[in-house]
Amino acid sequence: MSAGTHQSGGMGTGVVKWIDSRLPVFTYLQKEYAEFEAPRNFNWFWNFGAILTFLLVMMIMTGIFLAMQYQPNTALAFDSVERIMRDVNYGWLLRYLHANGATFFFIAIYIHIFRGMYYGSYKAPRELLWMLGVVILLLAMATAFMGYVLPWGQMSFWGATVITNLFSAIPLVGDSIVTLLWGGFSVDNPTLNRFFALHYLLPFLIFGVVILHVIALHVTGSNNPLGVDPKGPQDTLPFHPYYTMKDSVGLAAFVTIMAAFVFFAPNFFGEPENYLEAAPLNTPAHIVPEWYFLPFFAILRSIDFDILFIEAKLGGVIAMFAAIFVLFVLPWLDRSPVRSAKFRPVYKWFFWIFLINAVILGYVGGKPTDAPVFSGVEGFQIIHLGYITTFWYFAHFLIVIPLLGIFERPKPVPKSISEAVLGGGAAGTTATAKPMEKA
Ligand code: HEM
Repeated sequence: MSAGTHQSGGMGTGVVKWIDSRLPVFTYLQKEYAEFEAPRNFNWFWNFGAILTFLLVMMIMTGIFLAMQYQPNTALAFDSVERIMRDVNYGWLLRYLHANGATFFFIAIYIHIFRGMYYGSYKAPRELLWMLGVVILLLAMATAFMGYVLPWGQMSFWGATVITNLFSAIPLVGDSIVTLLWGGFSVDNPTLNRFFALHYLLPFLIFGVVILHVIALHVTGSNNPLGVDPKGPQDTLPFHPYYTMKDSVGLAAFVTIMAAFVFFAPNFFGEPENYLEAAPLNTPAHIVPEWYFLPFFAILRSIDFDILFIEAKLGGVIAMFAAIFVLFVLPWLDRSPVRSAKFRPVYKWFFWIFLINAVILGYVGGKPTDAPVFSGVEGFQIIHLGYITTFWYFAHFLIVIPLLGIFERPKPVPKSISEAVLGGGAAGTTATAKPMEKA
């Protein structure tokens, strides 16, 4: 070392200082996670980013230990999972944490997304942060889909067959893509092998995108329930200890609920059919995906008619992917200058209608299409409910949101967070003209 300049910088003492003056990781952590100024008015919905981070790490850890015992071979996979459950020390715990962890990961992701939609967190300047979130959602879905195939049960096999077959609807190259996905001419050993390889890889990719997601968040700063930007130190709190503590409490509550399922109802979200080994010659009566895919599965099935020159099957696949891709352009579909639904009297209603519609879509996705919606009313079937809810899903993004941006009259927005939180509330203050100053 030349003039010893590096020794002088860096925080802490001893080893910490020695490292920090050469690679300032501690300074970085101190700045970004301890001193980081966060709006003082976060509610409990702002816990879900931290909860998701915890779950992602838990999924990777349990997954690595499961992979040490799992056999990605069609002759062995099912039995290797049974062995994990019965013979491997705490194997049952690893597996139940991993399986229920996937469910709770999606619960947290959906709450996190709906939080963003309610409080307008996707709007400028956080568009890229939001879009990275949608990339994470897509990666998480691919990971979960491939993970579900690994136990090689009946639903693993038939779910994989149905979903991979969808790609055959793509004109010209569809069949080649399916052969490539399968590594052959049906879902078989090469399919299981590549799904295992990718299921192991993708979570690390998600981890990388999460790092970008959080870096982007720290550039723009967090949104908050009021949707107004902090105006100074009176509007913010240092992240530590205030939000490290609040996140810990929220995480403890969330983990307690998850543990209740892991220990007392570990198969609640599971499918009994998947405890039967895959049998390619025996098709189950109802092939249903995991609950977190049901709304998208409903959209896929609801396009059962040709649209101009697009055949029904391809139309369904396009609609299903469009249902996620529309989220990418949400920041530009919503032109309202006000972020938080608190100050958007009409949007607020449409938000709840959208949420209920999404739940009904999930219900539709889990039922046979020709079942009656109400027993005794034969003419109104699940498929009809599917048409309505699929239409509404897209109408919300493509018609309602753009129109509200033009016609809705927002309520007065408080000038600052401290004024609304500490002073006499939002009453009497009007700052609707430029509520998104940073935009
Ligand atoms: C592995 C999955 C994810 C992780 C670990 C994660 C992590 C985080 C963290 C730590 C925060 C800051 C704390 C908070 O606001 O809750 C955050 C904020 C945010 N996330 Fe995510 N996220 C994930 C997925 C997503 C997805 C799927 C979306 C949307 C499609 C999304 C959109 C956002 C937005 C818009 C914010 C800023 C919120 C605000 O400031 O109001 N995230 N995320």
